[in-house]
Amino acid sequence: MKNTPVDYNITKEVIDSYGLPDFGKATIREVVAIASQLEQATQTEFIHMEMGVPGLKPAQVGVDAEIQALRNGIASVYPNINGSPELKAEASRFIKAFLNVDVDAECCVPVTGSMQGTYASFLTCGQCAAGKDTILFIDPGFPVQKQQIVVMGYKYESFDVYEYRGESVASKVEEYLSKGNIAAIIYSNPNNPAWFCLTENELQAIAAIAGKYDTIIIEDLAYFAMDFRKELGKPFEAPYQSTVAHYTDNYILQISGSKAFSYAGQRIGITAISNKLYHRVYPGLTERYGGGTFGTVYIHRVLYALSSGTNHSAQFALAAMFKAASDGTFDFVSEVQEYGRRAKKLKKIFTDHGFKIVYDHDLDEPIADGFYFTISYPGMSGSELMKELIYYGVSAISLGTTGSNQEGLRACTSFIKEHQYELLNERLYIFNENHPL
Ligand SMILES: Cc1ncc(COP(=O)(O)O)c(C=O)c1O
Repeated sequence: MKNTPVDYNITKEVIDSYGLPDFGKATIREVVAIASQLEQATQTEFIHMEMGVPGLKPAQVGVDAEIQALRNGIASVYPNINGSPELKAEASRFIKAFLNVDVDAECCVPVTGSMQGTYASFLTCGQCAAGKDTILFIDPGFPVQKQQIVVMGYKYESFDVYEYRGESVASKVEEYLSKGNIAAIIYSNPNNPAWFCLTENELQAIAAIAGKYDTIIIEDLAYFAMDFRKELGKPFEAPYQSTVAHYTDNYILQISGSKAFSYAGQRIGITAISNKLYHRVYPGLTERYGGGTFGTVYIHRVLYALSSGTNHSAQFALAAMFKAASDGTFDFVSEVQEYGRRAKKLKKIFTDHGFKIVYDHDLDEPIADGFYFTISYPGMSGSELMKELIYYGVSAISLGTTGSNQEGLRACTSFIKEHQYELLNERLYIFNENHPL
């Protein structure tokens, strides 16, 4: 096909110059680089759907508190390794307000983003008991977390939950846990990349199996309260964000400031360790560190070794954002609902032109519109589709890199600009003509 919106020959030349044997394995950074190079070379605008970066302004209440803290001189002082008392208290209150779960302030630990939270969690979980050295990923998932496992020389197992929703999820998880080597389970809810949400029943069943094999559950709430099918933004009022913490006391929650508060640049989040797990003593930790509980090892050994605490001023920002949200003076959910509005429009444009939504249901309920969605085109592999769409000025990443077995792409709504819906419509019209169904 030569009548592509982005000049065919230049696009082919640029893609070939990257020498990628399988385009579907290209990293997000490579896709960004190719798209940016083509934008320059052809002066054609791209519709960027590859990066999962917040596209909204940071929450003002956080910015103001952080500036004030800096003016007060906190930049010169090492932060308390446990976290600032204000932030710990507000995190505990926020968790009560929006999850209806009790986690003591002591057990809420600031981290430099959930990236650090999961790294430190994997590391600590894998040192608790001899032989429990593997992390189980309920996929699809966030590829960098597997990179973390590789960096620390750990092992992981994974399965694509696409075919195991509902009652079968627990027996699938048990297949792995029964081998006895799984230290922890990780999944994100809502899910990156597919935006499905494990249901309360599924979480309850996973909690029960994890309890049977004494496995820690790491719940990644990077997209906290962003299942827009439910009204999750009212503090201390049901409905609450779904969480496994309603069904077990052996969990670690990762709550990120990045997406819910558009605060990714300051690298701030909270690891909330259940009260019981925080105070638990493990033989593996005692042997390695000479003492300590899960929580104190996590903070005073692992986080201390990684970064000696968390960015001081950002802790003031997160404390202020949590406080305003719990007080009901800052409706953070309404702010991020913009992603849902975008997804709704984009999904309609894709499906109008023959695309399918890959992960489209939570059992019998259509998934929410939110930060990401997944698309496929009949007869094309994910890798082929990703490459082909570049010729139409649309960039997204292949599901193959996320541990999914499905053929398709992840599209992110965060960078979409108002005028791009019409542009996408025009381009997909041509795409559909060039690839008749
Ligand atoms: C599922 C998931 N977990 C964690 C993160 C990273 O969060 P943070 O910016 O807090 O490190 C992301 C960011 O894209 C994510 O999608």
